[in-house]
Amino acid sequence: MGEVKLSIFGFGNVGRATARVLLEKERVFKEKYGVSFKVVSISDRSGTVWLPEGMDLREVLNVKEAFGRLSAWSNDYEVYEFSPMEAVKEIDADIVIDVTNDKNAWEWHMEALKRGRAVVTSNKPPLAFHYAELTAEAGRRELPYLFEATVMAGTPIIGLLRETLLADSIEGIEGVLNGTTTYILTKMEEGVPLEEALKGAQRLGIAEHDPSGDILGFDAGYKATILHCLAFEPITFDEIEIRGIDGLPLEDVQRVRKEGKTLRLVASIERGSVSVEPKELPKESPLAVSSTQNAALIKTDLLGELLIRGAGAGLKETASGVVSDVITATIRLRGG
Ligand code: HSE
Repeated sequence: MGEVKLSIFGFGNVGRATARVLLEKERVFKEKYGVSFKVVSISDRSGTVWLPEGMDLREVLNVKEAFGRLSAWSNDYEVYEFSPMEAVKEIDADIVIDVTNDKNAWEWHMEALKRGRAVVTSNKPPLAFHYAELTAEAGRRELPYLFEATVMAGTPIIGLLRETLLADSIEGIEGVLNGTTTYILTKMEEGVPLEEALKGAQRLGIAEHDPSGDILGFDAGYKATILHCLAFEPITFDEIEIRGIDGLPLEDVQRVRKEGKTLRLVASIERGSVSVEPKELPKESPLAVSSTQNAALIKTDLLGELLIRGAGAGLKETASGVVSDVITATIRLRGG
């Protein structure tokens, strides 16, 4: 396989961070893995730039940063008004990368697989609602369908459950899986009200496009659903229990802190049961993370307790998961 053709959907914070990693580490990837990439299309909300010969990522990043939309490039290139489904059908790519937050993206993920394309995604709802269909279709077609960045950004909990802990039976997982709520709760402990703390999370680029997804616990719920699917069997987001951090009084968060504990939005995952709710944790608990960190305690029959902890949100941190999956998909497509 020569150059691997990539089609990128979504050119917001994560999409641009992904493009930057592909650009800045091009030589490293070539030397270390013998892979080189050609980005043949990038789509944002304004349109799709499509160049079958591959585009200059430096230039496309400059356009987006200067004008805020890809359609501004129309002086130099044709910009197409494709829906994602049309773009998947039209554009010849080896790997489709979904870094959007399109809730209906599972339909075009399916189409991409049917057309023989691998899929790499950081978009959670397709998996939280359609894990079984998507992974079955990929399995039938022997195509990579990879989603490391959906949970804990690039911190490799998906790879751990999917590829590494193969002899173990998982007994349960408890995790703090949403960076925005941890960031907000950390600030609330210092006396900053929720709305103001949320603005800080938005400035860091870690909150969802619609931040109510973080505050109400949906984002952590999507992630917990995906972990259940991997650790046990497929379920959907509709089957889980969620309570977010909305309505938590500032005084309560500070009181818990004064008592030597800390409030965190905790996901508890056992076979057939997933819940997300704010919980008081002892300060020394391995789940008492701060800022944008995530942590998960995995209990297995053979290993006992295993802790995985690291960045759970952030731009380059999420791009780490996306680009690692792109490299894995490439190696697998080559038969490695
Ligand atoms: N909004 C998410 C979070 C981004 O705060 O964890 C990473 O999935």
